[in-house]
Amino acid sequence: MEDTELESEQVEEEAIPSIVADRIQTLEARNAQLLEELRRAESERRFVESELIRLQKEIKRLRVELDRLKTPPLIVGTVKDLLEDGRVVVRSTTGPDFIVFAADFIEKNELKIGSRVALNKQSLSVISVLPGSKDTLVANAEVMEKPDVTYDDIGGLQDQILEMKETVEFPLTKPEFFREVGIEPPRGILLIGPPGTGKTLLAKAVANKTNATFIHIVGSELVQKYIGEGSRIVRELFDMAREKSPSIVFIDEIDAIGAKRLEIATSGDREVQRTLMQLLAELDGFDPIGEVKIIAATNRVDILDDALLRPGRFDRIIEIPIPSREARVKIFEIHTRKMSLDKGIDYELLADRTPDATGADIKAICMEAGMFAIRDERKKIKFVDFEQAIAKILEEDAGKSDTGAMFA
Ligand SMILES: Nc1ncnc2c1ncn2[C@@H]1O[C@H](COP(=O)(O)OP(=O)(O)OP(=O)(O)O)[C@@H](O)[C@H]1O
Ligand SMILES: [Mg+2]
Repeated sequence: MEDTELESEQVEEEAIPSIVADRIQTLEARNAQLLEELRRAESERRFVESELIRLQKEIKRLRVELDRLKTPPLIVGTVKDLLEDGRVVVRSTTGPDFIVFAADFIEKNELKIGSRVALNKQSLSVISVLPGSKDTLVANAEVMEKPDVTYDDIGGLQDQILEMKETVEFPLTKPEFFREVGIEPPRGILLIGPPGTGKTLLAKAVANKTNATFIHIVGSELVQKYIGEGSRIVRELFDMAREKSPSIVFIDEIDAIGAKRLEIATSGDREVQRTLMQLLAELDGFDPIGEVKIIAATNRVDILDDALLRPGRFDRIIEIPIPSREARVKIFEIHTRKMSLDKGIDYELLADRTPDATGADIKAICMEAGMFAIRDERKKIKFVDFEQAIAKILEEDAGKSDTGAMFA
């Protein structure tokens, strides 16, 4: 009995390890499997976590973007005055002046009278100082390429050309002469004369001769819709001229802003007057040796304000007359230079036939003569074409009795 028990125990003892080993093996396999799963889950978690972070960042970015889009716009204003207590007088383009506070983080030395600033919409307090900007009009006024007009393209006007050379060209090209001789070169000149006599042409020719920056603006461009805009543009224009000196500021058709100031004026007139006053101030404020020259031109000197004409504003007033007979011959030559003319066209005769014609008239006559030749399918322009052109162009001018006779 004991034996059999012992035997069976022995059997059991032998059987147990194999079962256990089996069990262990499966458990180990399972363990490995679970470990593998754990690793996978772990890496999945990491991935999800990083994805979460990414998405959170995205949300934050979108929130910021959304906030930015929702922030009310800032108003652009100009500093008019700085008060002792740290407050600032600003003017926005929308109307009256305001006394406001400036944000603490603005450097005090950045805030100057005249600087452009951004204002909070509600409190109008100064949020930041903007970099000074040039009006697009002013930026575009700078002529990048030199005008291609030279003195040779101007007929007659010899005295005027000489005067322009002395007043504008030499002070810019040979300033030392003036210094040595000890005279102040003239600052500005005003060209006056009837339409089409070559005022604009002359200004361009001078600009061509010097290496100065040529800034060209037409008076009517300075007439602006909003109060204070015109004078601001004048100021910016002259700032640019000083910055880019040596330079020539050419204000064509100055009568648009330089007309006589009247007692009774509409608000529009007053704005134009303000622009004129700014211009006068700029003309006065120039250091004469400074390398900025001003040329202005007008064909309506009769309506110009006396303040512009008084001595000291424009140092010289140069009158451009209707061309003389001699000048007309020259102008005919200039404008027919590139034309294919019949032999023996007599410029003297053409000049005789065109009394009172301006340079612009003569230019038109030459072009018209070419058109008559083309109409006739000719390659050469004949004298008769000129006769016809003269009749056509000068017909509009009242009291030309000889034009009718030409056709007869
Ligand atoms: N003296 C001249 N010699 C050659 N061409 C001339 C002369 N005067 C005028 N012209 C011609 O006439 C055109 C018009 O001249 P310009 O623009 O200089 O006139 P303006 O005096 O400025 O007239 P406005 O007062 O109307 O502005 C010029 O492009 C030029 O071709
Ligand atoms: Mg002109």
